[in-house]
Amino acid sequence: MFAMRAPGRVNIIGEHTDYNDGFCLPMALPFDTVIAVSSYLEPHRVEIRSEGFGSARIRTDKPNHELAEWALPIAGVLWLLEAQGIPAGGWRGKVASDIPAGASLSSSAAIEVAVAKVVLHLNGIQWAPLQVAEVGQQAETDFVGIPTGIMDQFISAGAVNGHAGLLDCRELTLTKTRLPDNVTIAVMDTGTRRRLVDVAYAERRATCERTAAELGLVSLRDATMQDLARLSAEDQVGYQRAAHVISENERTLAAVGAMEAGDTALLGTLMNQSHDSLRDQFEVSSPALDQIVKAAREAPGCLGARMTGGGFAGCAVALVASDLVDQFRSQVLASYNYLDLTHDGDRGAKIWFCDPQAGASLDLLLPVASDVK
Ligand code: GLA
Repeated sequence: MFAMRAPGRVNIIGEHTDYNDGFCLPMALPFDTVIAVSSYLEPHRVEIRSEGFGSARIRTDKPNHELAEWALPIAGVLWLLEAQGIPAGGWRGKVASDIPAGASLSSSAAIEVAVAKVVLHLNGIQWAPLQVAEVGQQAETDFVGIPTGIMDQFISAGAVNGHAGLLDCRELTLTKTRLPDNVTIAVMDTGTRRRLVDVAYAERRATCERTAAELGLVSLRDATMQDLARLSAEDQVGYQRAAHVISENERTLAAVGAMEAGDTALLGTLMNQSHDSLRDQFEVSSPALDQIVKAAREAPGCLGARMTGGGFAGCAVALVASDLVDQFRSQVLASYNYLDLTHDGDRGAKIWFCDPQAGASLDLLLPVASDVK
């Protein structure tokens, strides 16, 4: 019996850049998905019980698209590993997670990474974080149906404790990067959840790829603002999306420089610019995200704030002076009042102050398993 954990993430800066071969700067959160694993005699079968979702029996040798939606990322990873000749069945898992689902904190990537690491561990195989991440990303694309980049799975698998990670999504490298000492990352949940985003995400990605092709480039990573003058005057949307990606890549590299120099004012300004670009040029923000970002920017200690992740709902991220976190939290919670009438859960905002955590890890302690009901 063992347990495998994989964390969710928040992206500090570098949004909608990963699938353009660009740069992003996420960190792993103190929210995890944990799978407690016990053996099960039938090969090619996995039995999964998930807190809050129910149970699923998955055949690892035969893709079955009739599975419940929550089980698809799990099954996708199992099928992909078995297709590579790695026996993926013969175990039973209980899954628990405190990563809010649909909140742009990568709950889906965390389960994919955890499942891949369970199977690898059972087979005595060691893979680098990138290889683990690639299987998760492929499961998300092929079986969940969302053509995501590599960011979420890569940081969940490979984060280094105490550090954010600069991902170069062309070179596929993760470089650990320290946050300055006197600031804290605040994750701010608007209480809104995504709907119909998958279509919008795929559409944004397709527009970026089409625009790069029109410019004769492999990806928008290679584009400059001067290049955009070559786009047809009618292609306002392609222009805007590409302008965001080009400037966001620049901001992300500048943010790493600011972190290294301890220039928290510059880092915060870059985060503010990132949000404004995502709202106006890439058009993936929402009224709730804009409202919480505005509330954050007006609160004591805030150096910068922006939406995080794919967008449209979920969470935003702020950089806050560590000695003012309590005042920051009270003011944001007092001034944020967006009401999502279509969401039945708890509608209030939530704020968590988070230190960067390590990526996925194995836990051999039995108490972890018994904690999972
Ligand atoms: C989602 C995707 C990531 C990335 C972000 C936007 O989180 O899973 O790959 O594209 O959106 O930056």
